[in-house]
Amino acid sequence: MKTARAGRSKGEPDDEQPLAGHIVALIFEKPSTRTRVSFDVGVCQMGGKTLVLSGRDMHLGHGETIADTARVLSRFVDLIMIRTFNESVLTELAEHATVPVINGLTNRTHPCQIMADIMTFEEHRGPITGKKVVCYGDGHNNVFSSFLQGAAKFGFDITFSGPPGLAPEDEFMNMARKAGCSVAIEQDPVKAVQNADLVVTDTWVSMHDSQSAKEQRHNLLRPYQVNDDLMAHARADALFMHCLPAHREEEATSSVMDGPHSVIFDEAENRLHAQKAIMRWCLAI
Ligand code: CP
Ligand code: NVA
Repeated sequence: MKTARAGRSKGEPDDEQPLAGHIVALIFEKPSTRTRVSFDVGVCQMGGKTLVLSGRDMHLGHGETIADTARVLSRFVDLIMIRTFNESVLTELAEHATVPVINGLTNRTHPCQIMADIMTFEEHRGPITGKKVVCYGDGHNNVFSSFLQGAAKFGFDITFSGPPGLAPEDEFMNMARKAGCSVAIEQDPVKAVQNADLVVTDTWVSMHDSQSAKEQRHNLLRPYQVNDDLMAHARADALFMHCLPAHREEEATSSVMDGPHSVIFDEAENRLHAQKAIMRWCLAI
């Protein structure tokens, strides 16, 4: 789908218009740049319409149950994408909706991001199966949890490197291990990066994390900054990814983000292409 529209201006429709006659609700309970724009543009390119809704302006979970919201929205729209806080809001919405519901990020997971990341890796380096991915920072991070979900599906190995007490959830590690992937925890950042094919980091403080703990988190995570010295220990052809938004010079230096290993802006663009495929898959069109 990406190749099919190479060279077109962004607003030009795709040759195929699978979403013609379809309307998609995009619900945001948290801020977003990439997810909001990529879903909206993607629906538009495929001939559909969007309703971009702020959770604040809806009765969702306050004044109306999530189940009733799901039933009502299902009478108006063909597909729902939601970015929310607790994952239970997403699962409850999906359980009661009669249309597909896409996870646009929860406190716990961010699967659309990982579909774009895997697409980006494979565009640059071929199949990700059997490759080594190293994630630096907070193991509870939603992007890293979805990397484990992705590992279970695509068969790559993951090493986490972060301070004690911030290891990933057992459920996600077990999911990847059960699928035959190697999942390691290595507190030494330099040891972790040996033979890495892909180095990933994310913000040290996520949108749902308490801002009052910011300083303490920064102190804990500072040794895990991805900088040129660390990247020098990865494979020479290792890629660097960050889902963005980034806090430059905190979790990663600008020299890495704008350097030869980095594919961060391809990663951002691929949100569009990967999510268009996800929407087609959800609607079987
Ligand atoms: N990476 C990502 O989901 O970005 P936004 O928060 O801008 O949507
Ligand atoms: N971990 C980040 C991802 C932002 C896209 C957050 O949840 O804030």
